Amino acid sequence: MSIDIVEVLKQPKMTKVCAPMVRYSKLQFRTLVRRYNCDICFTPMILADSFVRSEKARENEFSTTDRDEPLVVQFAAKNVHDFLNAAEMVAPYCNGVDLNCGCPQRWAIKEGYGVDLLRKPNLVKDLIYQVRNRISHPFTVSVKIRLLKDIHKTIQFCKILEKAGVSFLTVHARTPEMRCEPIDLDNLKLVRDNVKLPLIANGDVKNLESAENLYRESNCDAVMSARGILTNPALFSGHSITPLSCIQDWLDITSTIPTQFIYFHHHLVFMLEKLLPKKNRIFFNNLQNKTTVLEFLEETYGIKPNNEPELYEPIKCTFSIPTMKYNKYIVRDDDSDDDNLSTNFLSNIFAES
Ligand SMILES: Cc1cc2nc3c(=O)[nH]c(=O)nc-3n(C[C@H](O)[C@H](O)[C@H](O)COP(=O)(O)O)c2cc1C
Repeated sequence: MSIDIVEVLKQPKMTKVCAPMVRYSKLQFRTLVRRYNCDICFTPMILADSFVRSEKARENEFSTTDRDEPLVVQFAAKNVHDFLNAAEMVAPYCNGVDLNCGCPQRWAIKEGYGVDLLRKPNLVKDLIYQVRNRISHPFTVSVKIRLLKDIHKTIQFCKILEKAGVSFLTVHARTPEMRCEPIDLDNLKLVRDNVKLPLIANGDVKNLESAENLYRESNCDAVMSARGILTNPALFSGHSITPLSCIQDWLDITSTIPTQFIYFHHHLVFMLEKLLPKKNRIFFNNLQNKTTVLEFLEETYGIKPNNEPELYEPIKCTFSIPTMKYNKYIVRDDDSDDDNLSTNFLSNIFAES
């Protein structure tokens, strides 16, 4: 795959990105949002160790087509071996890999994934460095982070990754402890002002207007949406609520790409959230099979799957399992400051600053 995501991000325009979403940013949904002005898509977070070890996990977690580009595959990883092997295996089928350093869920922290990695800049540096040295440009290796309570430590973390060769960063402008409160725009701007890398700003993009505001105010290169694009996959096209054409597209896409009922239905539940009156919504949300869902959509909106939908042929991925050794990270002269700094801030990264 030849598209260089860094070049896409450097274009002098707002690049629009669909967030990694466990269960939801799968091939079918990515195909849908690409029809509505979305420039780059992320897969859901995939556990790198399962991906490397289990063919079943690879089949369940990853699928793509030749039009599913630019694509970033996001992994949860906590050692070089798994991240590097997973990256090498998936590299022929995507434009880059991303390391999740932003998942705040308890299970992930307990396992050493997600935001737990924000406490371990040297490990993250090594993960990035190894992939960067193994897989050449234009393939990207990126990291998605949350803000730390201490903004200086956040900036330090980013600078460490910059030196390790990270291609770009996504910043979800909340700390690991924040849930639904508004994003911390001031600290996002501080990161922007102090880090030269291309940055994707993430948090609370609910429509095109909020995307443009975030792009302008943060001065980042791109904006990413998760919950907003889930409820309205056409938001980057300027639609304020899901247009019926999007429901039609969903029926057509899922009639050519095999889709489990639960995902087929869940996405419609999200998309119809603002379209259906409460009583109909409760009825729709409780439907149990595809036939009743299709009947409902035809009766309510006159929409049914197209007889001749555009065809999407999932690529038959053949993953070769690498048997590789990797080089130890070599600390360059100009790294020494960072190493001291990173050791200092490791101790209590989530403490109040
Ligand atoms: C259903 C769901 C699944 C998510 N899964 C992931 C994931 O796999 N990897 C990740 O880095 N973030 C994940 N997130 C976080 C989002 O990518 C995003 O950072 C967060 O929701 C803030 O963006 P928003 O305000 O646009 O929703 C998920 C969020 C949601 C709502």
